[in-house]
Amino acid sequence: MKLPVFVLTSAALTLAALSALSAGIPTIQKQPFGKMPDGREVFLYTLTNASGMEVKITNYGGTIESIKVPDRDKNYADVVLGFDTLEGYTQPKNTSYFGALIGRYGNRIAKGTFQLDGKVYHIPTNDGPNTLHGGIHGFNSKLWDAKTMETPEGPSLTLHYLSKDGEEGFPGNLNVTVRYTLDKKNGLHLDYSATTDKDTVLNLTNHSYFNLSGAGNGTILKDLLTLNADNFTPVDSTLIPTGKVESVGGTPFDFRHATEVGSRINENNEQLKLGHGYDHNFVLNRKGDLTVVAAKVEDPNSGRVLEVYTDQPGVQFYTSNFLDGSVTGIGGPYNLHGALCLETQHYPDSPNHPNFPSTELRPGETFHSTTIFRFKTE
Ligand code: BGC
Repeated sequence: MKLPVFVLTSAALTLAALSALSAGIPTIQKQPFGKMPDGREVFLYTLTNASGMEVKITNYGGTIESIKVPDRDKNYADVVLGFDTLEGYTQPKNTSYFGALIGRYGNRIAKGTFQLDGKVYHIPTNDGPNTLHGGIHGFNSKLWDAKTMETPEGPSLTLHYLSKDGEEGFPGNLNVTVRYTLDKKNGLHLDYSATTDKDTVLNLTNHSYFNLSGAGNGTILKDLLTLNADNFTPVDSTLIPTGKVESVGGTPFDFRHATEVGSRINENNEQLKLGHGYDHNFVLNRKGDLTVVAAKVEDPNSGRVLEVYTDQPGVQFYTSNFLDGSVTGIGGPYNLHGALCLETQHYPDSPNHPNFPSTELRPGETFHSTTIFRFKTE
């Protein structure tokens, strides 16, 4: 059965649409969100499901701008960091990739160098000696084509971007599609797909910063985290994996049972010091299985819970160690440990580690991947 989905424009919030909103019918609303430097219009899309959960996404960077979900008393709050203007995202001091789609290669590539089919590629570096999140002009800064759609699952927004052969030094024309769908049970699905016309490497993710107490409302140090991971990939001083895959057992990286994020963050541990907190890739157990919880965050304060499901082999757990209050977004200044990221992805620097799962994509193949962020209360 197809759900009725009302597609609205801000200029035409009709009476029928308004009553649809109050009747709890899923809707998609589109409103202007500024202009790119070359004059192209940017939009903000609001997806609402029948129970009232609301997700705002802009086609600038394919960015999740806000996610409003209820707490245990049915009070709604925005649980991701973001800005209410395009200028917030484009300001030079915003180097945090809040909510953005990340590519062509999420996380780091050591010294901006990798080999593919015997050829050495040098790509621009933007993080000390390394390339981070696709380089200087990653997918987070691109304007994506957008299409709203009614699906049996709920309102959805399909974003498409063509990354041309040679963009940021990567080979191949890469066609990337990311579909966001808000389902009836407060799950936000991210379905990624990509094809190329030359061998290339690819690592796509979304960089949302979650604070289940509400954006700008304290730290995530008291959140309980469960990570379905027996191993992680330790890093060097520039946050590049050493290539080892180590057990989390007996270390502050053991989140196999729900544990307070902050309870061990200041321990005298070399990896925590190198990361300035948690900034590490966890190797997920039962890789590829979308039916088991990969990560779970519980906020005792509000009762809000986030479950993350993914078919990707890893998740980067990052405790926003580089936020320092100098950037102000929705909810106030964004401070140290003011949010956490669970970036589902392949391992960092995979092109330089043959023992890691491959991130190569070849002509004729289609890359597919799904991550679900599901919100509940407990
Ligand atoms: C990285 C961090 C980085 C952050 C923002 C995360 O994915 O692991 O080291 O600071 O993104 O760029």
